[in-house]
Amino acid sequence: METRSPGVRHMCTLSLLLVSVCPLRLCSSSWMWLGVTSAGISEKLGCANLPLSPRQLFLCRRKPFLLPSIQDGARLAVSECQSQFRHERWNCSTSQQPPVFGHELTSGTKETAFIYAVMAAGLVHAVTRSCSQGNTTECGCDARLQGGGSAVDGWHWGGCSDHIQYGTWFSRKFMDNNMKNTSTTRGGYTLNSMNQHNSEVGRQAIEQTMSTDCRCHGVSGSCAVKTCWRMMAPFDRVGVYLKDRYENSVQVSDRSRRKTRRKDQRRPPVDKQRLIFFNKSPNYCLEDRRRGVAGTRGRRCNRTSTGSDSCNLLCCGRGYNTHVVRHVQRCECKFVWCCYVRCRRCESMNDMHTCK
Ligand SMILES: *[C@@H]1O[C@H](CO)[C@@H](O)[C@H](O)[C@H]1NC(C)=O
Ligand SMILES: *[C@@H]1O[C@H](CO)[C@@H](O)[C@H](O)[C@H]1NC(C)=O
Ligand SMILES: *[C@@H]1O[C@H](CO)[C@@H](O)[C@H](O)[C@H]1NC(C)=O
Ligand SMILES: *[C@@H]1O[C@H](CO)[C@@H](O)[C@H](O)[C@H]1NC(C)=O
Repeated sequence: METRSPGVRHMCTLSLLLVSVCPLRLCSSSWMWLGVTSAGISEKLGCANLPLSPRQLFLCRRKPFLLPSIQDGARLAVSECQSQFRHERWNCSTSQQPPVFGHELTSGTKETAFIYAVMAAGLVHAVTRSCSQGNTTECGCDARLQGGGSAVDGWHWGGCSDHIQYGTWFSRKFMDNNMKNTSTTRGGYTLNSMNQHNSEVGRQAIEQTMSTDCRCHGVSGSCAVKTCWRMMAPFDRVGVYLKDRYENSVQVSDRSRRKTRRKDQRRPPVDKQRLIFFNKSPNYCLEDRRRGVAGTRGRRCNRTSTGSDSCNLLCCGRGYNTHVVRHVQRCECKFVWCCYVRCRRCESMNDMHTCK
């Protein structure tokens, strides 16, 4: 067993302390606003009672009508992140109350990149939906499309096209540190400009996944005339899109580190549609409280799968336990004249596997 000198032990407590203080440190960053997902928002509970940074508080006071959308956006993003990563070793878990992310917010990994992108996208999505529903006078449907179309092809713009510009503007204001445009950064990023780049990828994802929907008019559904509108994809489509970006993200150099290699200096700027990260991710296998890694012990795995949820991959080769779970269902239901349904109770025993 490892022996530790008192000095080393002291360092350990210090870093553990940092972890528990970390949420406080995050409080001063703009991430405290994740706490809005659990806050009950009512008229009485104004901006001042919410976990916002000074800049966000200022925005909130100027636009209190967007409060429900900020809350919706954060919820949308967290639940989509958890759904996209439910079969992965890192499952996008947050601490419970308030639901904040831990180390992965500042680790500069692919996971940091995904979180920023999905949060920025969630905010655009929620604010835009509120605009389209006519909930505020500051934004509405996309007026540029109204009245246009093609008479020859028998369609015109109509209905309410989602106007994402306002939501995109708001998402930038709310999340970005008002840094200069970073899309042409050469010779490395800072954590701030990396986050801002990735948030922008998230906002662009809303635009990239928009589609056109049409409705037919004409005698008995002849579709002689069509009314069309542009609409945002459901947020789970945005989640799939961003998960793909995550899997194809690119490593860039961290300018705040002294040793920037020459090679990096000459590297062309990264495509605006790609997520970027500095650091390789930990393998997320074992619990590491200092880094906020939960580990995969106790996670449910799939013995027959070959994907990331397979027992082999998810449990990192440590093996798994098998439990038998009793499942009770209604079955063999029959319609009985007249008028009810009679079912039997069926029991089945299923194997459930969890990582050691
Ligand atoms: C718009 O306002 C209505 C009524 O206040 C509310 O029920 C609805 O959830 C709001 N929609 C959005 C997207 O905020
Ligand atoms: C950043 O600058 C580039 C070129 O200078 C421009 O095309 C792009 O629209 C700008 N992006 C933002 C978010 O302002
Ligand atoms: C993620 O995994 C941990 C165990 O590693 C588990 O406690 C937690 O409930 C999971 N979170 C989600 C959102 O599935
Ligand atoms: C396990 O994986 C297989 C193959 O991917 C799939 O068909 C099955 O539904 C999964 N089982 C569970 C319990 O998720």
